[in-house]
Amino acid sequence: MNQHINKEHLNNPVTRDAINSFSNATDPRLAEVMALLVKHLHAFVSESNLSKAEWLKGLEFLTAAAQITDHERNEFSLFSDIMGISSMVDVVSQPPGGTPSSVLGPFHNHDSQIQPNGCDLTHGQPGERVWLHGRVLDVHQKPIPNAQIDFWQNADNGLYPAQDAAQDPQNLRCKIHCDAQGGFNLLTIRPHPYTVPTDGPVGALLAASNRGIWRPAHFHIIVSAPGYVGLVTELFPSGSAYIDNDTVFGVRPGLIVDVKDCHNQEVAKQFGLTQPFKEVAFDFSLVPQSSTT
Ligand code: BEZ
Ligand code: FE
Repeated sequence: MNQHINKEHLNNPVTRDAINSFSNATDPRLAEVMALLVKHLHAFVSESNLSKAEWLKGLEFLTAAAQITDHERNEFSLFSDIMGISSMVDVVSQPPGGTPSSVLGPFHNHDSQIQPNGCDLTHGQPGERVWLHGRVLDVHQKPIPNAQIDFWQNADNGLYPAQDAAQDPQNLRCKIHCDAQGGFNLLTIRPHPYTVPTDGPVGALLAASNRGIWRPAHFHIIVSAPGYVGLVTELFPSGSAYIDNDTVFGVRPGLIVDVKDCHNQEVAKQFGLTQPFKEVAFDFSLVPQSSTT
């Protein structure tokens, strides 16, 4: 019996037997996690005095989530996001000292192409130009060579390529190898707030709960480097609408960035910019793998 299961929960024979039913799992962590899950789910049923009709509604919700889930869309993942579970997993698994992590979301694409460091992702599309640059550092502020940035965001109409047939599937996404000092830079556009998908059971739940459906504007970034814990995170332009009520609870104070006027003529020349443009500077900090084992 694992240490987190106290006697009180064993008084109810159903809870006791359900917890014990997992005790022979070959993987002790599976036994521990399932016992705790049973403990808390049973407590939820008991404390809420859940009726049969209410549980049936719950099962119908899960069935509808399964029916709308396919290889491009995962309603369970969205449910985890809007319940704050994805963010709680981020919080409890965050190694100390590094840049905070944030939700991955459904629009990451493993097939983003490698672009040169200093690439221009804008390709004539509408949107305010933003020079995004920074470094990948360790927890002592020392540059990490050979880091990789995987970047994606939505377009000026608020949509990701997967939601908008008019966009090239590779629009506003790329992978970049950072330089020997951990430096990276690219030209992109200002991202926009957008709503999570609302046409499934999660949307119905949000509506029934009078909850918001919006996420604040953000850049998505995955930072990786050999020997360091990979970081899945987001950067949120300060002042964006919904920054204080992200419906998936992904905003962390350390991930809010200023979007400033940029007057760097070298950069204007690098990207052929003739109009005013902005910049966002951010240094990522990665935790060594050895410190988490
Ligand atoms: C997103 O950032 O794209 C996202 C994250 C969680 C749920 C839905 C969308
Ligand atoms: Fe997103």
